Amino acid sequence: MASIIARVGRSLCALLVCVAPSAGRADGPSAAHTDGHNGGHAGGHADGHGNGHHHGGMPHRFERAADWVNKFEGPERDAWQKPQTLIAALGDVRGKTVVDLGAGTGYFLPHLSRAVGPSGQVLALDVEADMVRHMQARAEREGLKNVRAQKSEGDDPKLAAGSADRVLIVDVWHHIPARGEFAKKLAAALRKDGAIYLVDFKLDSERGPPKKHKLTPESVMADLKAGGLVCELLKVDLPDQYVVVARRPAGTP
Ligand SMILES: C[S@@+](CC[C@H](N)C(=O)[O-])C[C@H]1O[C@@H](n2cnc3c(N)ncnc32)[C@H](O)[C@@H]1O
Repeated sequence: MASIIARVGRSLCALLVCVAPSAGRADGPSAAHTDGHNGGHAGGHADGHGNGHHHGGMPHRFERAADWVNKFEGPERDAWQKPQTLIAALGDVRGKTVVDLGAGTGYFLPHLSRAVGPSGQVLALDVEADMVRHMQARAEREGLKNVRAQKSEGDDPKLAAGSADRVLIVDVWHHIPARGEFAKKLAAALRKDGAIYLVDFKLDSERGPPKKHKLTPESVMADLKAGGLVCELLKVDLPDQYVVVARRPAGTP
């Protein structure tokens, strides 16, 4: 009962503070699931990224990058992911520092590298050492000179204070156990005019984790608000995902 009240409270709070969409309830973390972006559900559950993981303090492992390349970067992904559309939503990032949190196999890296240009920087973070190794090798192989991969911790992005202009987070948030605390660390990492772009699967999308494991925009916004951020739902023309933008409150030094 208490948890239901807490959930309703969080949703209402998000609706009041943030520009929120019409429907949906907050999804509490629970159970194991699978994560592969390709749609199908394999073992546990799959969020089109596909394979099994746990919520609420037991993050799913993505240990071997080679196992995930095809799942995260299948030839069909561009059609629904629309990377150019998403990157354009970040605004003019030329010369800026963009963090890709939970960057996985580095699907977005060539796009981000191009967008920030030679004077900008892309920092690709992941908790999995082999993902980091894979992304660093990929950046070198593909000549993405402004891309650097770095290992982060499950409960800490390990970012320097005031170092990021944009933080992109795509299909990662439900893997993070203490999301309010994590959001606080992200808030501290933002530059004054910085912003977080959190992208996740819509409840009614056939891609992503099973519905019961998906996070509503309201619940994501409540997490970000708990970290001291103000947020809004952005209008971006993506068929399967929503985009929440979070910033530090106006007047924050
Ligand atoms: C489903 S994949 C998404 C990969 C990438 N963002 C994409 O859209 O292709 C989730 C990734 O987040 C990473 N991850 C999970 N928990 C994390 C955390 N707390 N901090 C950073 N990365 C995390 C996983 O290792 C995995 O590579």
